[in-house]
Amino acid sequence: MGVIRRYADLLPVTGETPRITLGEGETPLVYLERISKDLEIELWGKLEGCNPSGSFKDRGMVMAVAKALEAGAKAIVCASTGNTSASAAAYAAAAQIPCYVLLPAGKVALGKLAQALMYGAEVIAVKGNFDRALEMAREAAEQKGFAIVNSVNPYRLWGQRSGAWEVCESLGSAPDWHAIPVGNAGNISAYWAGYSQYREIGKISKLPKMMGFQAAGAAPLVTGKPCPDPETVATAIRIGNPVSAHLAREAVELSGGEFNSVTDEEILSAQYYLSSKGGIFAEPASCAPLAGLVKLRGLGRLPKGIKAVMVLTGNGLKDPDTAMSQVGRPTEIGDSLDELLEVMKG
Ligand code: F0G
Repeated sequence: MGVIRRYADLLPVTGETPRITLGEGETPLVYLERISKDLEIELWGKLEGCNPSGSFKDRGMVMAVAKALEAGAKAIVCASTGNTSASAAAYAAAAQIPCYVLLPAGKVALGKLAQALMYGAEVIAVKGNFDRALEMAREAAEQKGFAIVNSVNPYRLWGQRSGAWEVCESLGSAPDWHAIPVGNAGNISAYWAGYSQYREIGKISKLPKMMGFQAAGAAPLVTGKPCPDPETVATAIRIGNPVSAHLAREAVELSGGEFNSVTDEEILSAQYYLSSKGGIFAEPASCAPLAGLVKLRGLGRLPKGIKAVMVLTGNGLKDPDTAMSQVGRPTEIGDSLDELLEVMKG
């Protein structure tokens, strides 16, 4: 059905808004039994990697592109650490509208780059970081009269609210904690707006604490000041000056939550933990919340028995290089059964 049709009553759509979809939304909310036991909480993972382009961006992109089409835009533009570009390129292909994506050169995971190129976008590698690429994209969009589809575009955050609505529908209420990775700070703001909207219309009665997790090398919301040279293995959140910082701060303050940072080592270890103990392969940035929950538990700051939802924002297949750098290689054997049986002894 897709996000626009499903939630037309809650979104700023008109009769003129094209009901485009690639089947985004309605992603699984999975109970993580073994990890819940380990952490002594009730932990749910929202599998946003199941969206058509493999990340949560599709929820907002479908709205941004539909609204750009409604307004008669000639092309769409974005800067991206990878997922926004994959999503923009996919919806642009479906709508047959030109798409320009600006990427920080050499800092985008392989799968995401392959996606943007395969979907037929004009892919531009900028010798600079994401924050600079976004400034350039905004300026160029303005000068050319193209639609910018980064989360500065309000329709992106509108569409991304649908993640919160689905969580409430699945659980019958909001969780106690909502744990989420924070890069450009749009998604945490969108979830907060989504939960708040659901409370206003009486669908839920209480709001969750918003727990935002950043990578230690790119943690402007934790340190309280922009980070001029962001660096982290979780390239999706390698962002030093988040455009929605003000909204994210508000969400955290009003909800009684907090921002926290986790090291690259903690992120990678959480990624392997989630894969090998939970059966869910999420990209590194998506594992920052789990790393954060593990860290808080170590500090004695994870309340026992709480219901927590973490947003697993992107599919692990998008970044095969980082995964392969952590794990061993396959056991090689010849083509004899004896060799195989020998391996299976252990
Ligand atoms: N997780 C993943 C997998 C992401 O791709 C992003 C952001 C985030 C978390 C953080 O979300 O920016 O709303 O705070 N990716 C953007 C991109 C910046 O260009 O794909 P945020």
